[in-house]
Amino acid sequence: MRKISKSSISGIEYAVPEVSDDRRAIEKFLALHSGRPVIVVQGLGFVGAVMALVCANSREEEYAVIGVDLVSENTFWKICSINEGVFPVVASDPNIELFYQRARLKNNLLATFDPFAYSAADVIIVDINLDVNKTSGYDKELLSYNVDLSAFKKAIETIGNNCKENALILVETTVPPGTCLKIVKPIIDSCLQKRGLSIAKYALGHSYERVMPGPDYINSIQNFYRVYAGIDEKSSIRVKKFLQTIISTEKYPLTQLGNTTATEMAKVLENSYRAMNIAFAQEWSRFAEESGVNIYEIVNAIRQRPTHANLMYPGIGVGGYCLTKDPLLASWAKKNLFGSPEALVQSETGVRINDKMPLFAFQYFLGHYPHSLQGKNVLLLGVSYRSDVGDTRYSPVEPFYDYMSDAGARLSLHDPYVSFWEEKNIPVGIHLDEAIREELDVIVISTAHREYRNNNELIARLLSMGELFIFDTVGLFTQEEVDLLKAKHVVKVLGRGDM
Ligand SMILES: NC(=O)c1ccc[n+]([C@@H]2O[C@H](COP(=O)([O-])OP(=O)(O)OC[C@H]3O[C@@H](n4cnc5c(N)ncnc54)[C@H](O)[C@@H]3O)[C@@H](O)[C@H]2O)c1
Repeated sequence: MRKISKSSISGIEYAVPEVSDDRRAIEKFLALHSGRPVIVVQGLGFVGAVMALVCANSREEEYAVIGVDLVSENTFWKICSINEGVFPVVASDPNIELFYQRARLKNNLLATFDPFAYSAADVIIVDINLDVNKTSGYDKELLSYNVDLSAFKKAIETIGNNCKENALILVETTVPPGTCLKIVKPIIDSCLQKRGLSIAKYALGHSYERVMPGPDYINSIQNFYRVYAGIDEKSSIRVKKFLQTIISTEKYPLTQLGNTTATEMAKVLENSYRAMNIAFAQEWSRFAEESGVNIYEIVNAIRQRPTHANLMYPGIGVGGYCLTKDPLLASWAKKNLFGSPEALVQSETGVRINDKMPLFAFQYFLGHYPHSLQGKNVLLLGVSYRSDVGDTRYSPVEPFYDYMSDAGARLSLHDPYVSFWEEKNIPVGIHLDEAIREELDVIVISTAHREYRNNNELIARLLSMGELFIFDTVGLFTQEEVDLLKAKHVVKVLGRGDM
């Protein structure tokens, strides 16, 4: 049976082709842009698709940009979607649509699944995923996981088997420290040698950014600090020159590190720091709940000191693709690429604590909800892992949903950015007025989307309903709103002791 790739944005279904044969479209595109430098972005996900947009809208250079993804049920729709006029990433940043429309006007962005694209590239940017497979589940005491590099290695091989001998290969994927030198370089060298090409002419570097899906998506790539390194002097120079054409480096100067292992480590250290910070906040929110104080009030007071400005608030959990895995990539590299007998123990513990946050949130709920959940109508407001974006990967709302469901609750969902929850294979309501229905017993604020925040209409609607149990897991409501709602409903806020 023919496989179907369904767009999670438009719902359009595309038949997945058996083989890659996009060559004519690429040749036509290249002919149209003859003489222009060609950038190929490998991986059209949350980072690669937007990176391709930024390259197509470079202020310094007229690039012809080709995005490559795989022919599979989960990804093929992204290729079709880009070529047919619907950008495959939904976020609240209006620049996404602006940049996409500009690229369409210039006709300088093409998406394909044909690796032939790499043969035309002057610059190849690697923005594919490199996953950590957690085998321990969300609520286990001990964390167990593995890192399988085979898909990543295959992707690099595809580049080596097709690229020009003088291409610049820039890895942006978050990788275990040591990957460019110990894994990517040997693969590219071997592929070029097999093709009878020189291994002295290509350049290889690693650079990372902190892509922030949400209202500042484009800015987080184009107008933000970057760290980079090359595997040798020539590579570093070429990476720098290239980055200067797509990033506002006069305002946000680049930082060069000693080698690619250092940049790779910088990326995972930065994310591990953030993950640890959240794990730390988790413990203190429990303490605040137990001792009847409001952790938000405390954190706000401490945050006024510049030295402590990034102390984290509590929440339903840590989700998304990066913070849930990056400390583990680092720990894995320490043992497996550098032969250390010891893991990064604190960082691994941080991940385990964060993984258990949805369970803590559920237990907190159970501790305060006076009824059985059996047959109760529960509405979750927000399924994405982060506010203002439609990214549901590793969303902490998923295990929370499962705990609720296992306890017999009848769940309904709303999220302004997600119409279909791929991981759970269920539709999600996008209209708030339809989602809030009289039959509800419980409403859980599970993602702090801007649509729910400071929303007087929402408060008025809630006040017009019969008695509800409202559980705010993300500290969305102000104290004033909580007080208002409490006149009619039971309101509990994670991290706020009973007030
Ligand atoms: N999401 C973020 O905010 C963020 C920020 C900084 C860095 N990163 C890192 O960037 C990388 C990409 O993240 P993402 O969020 O875009 O992931 P993603 O899963 O959304 O996208 C990855 C894409 O790469 C494609 N792909 C995989 N193998 C391929 C191959 N051989 N050829 C072509 N395409 C292939 C996948 O099909 C997918 O569409 C990860 O390493 C991530 O850790 C992510």
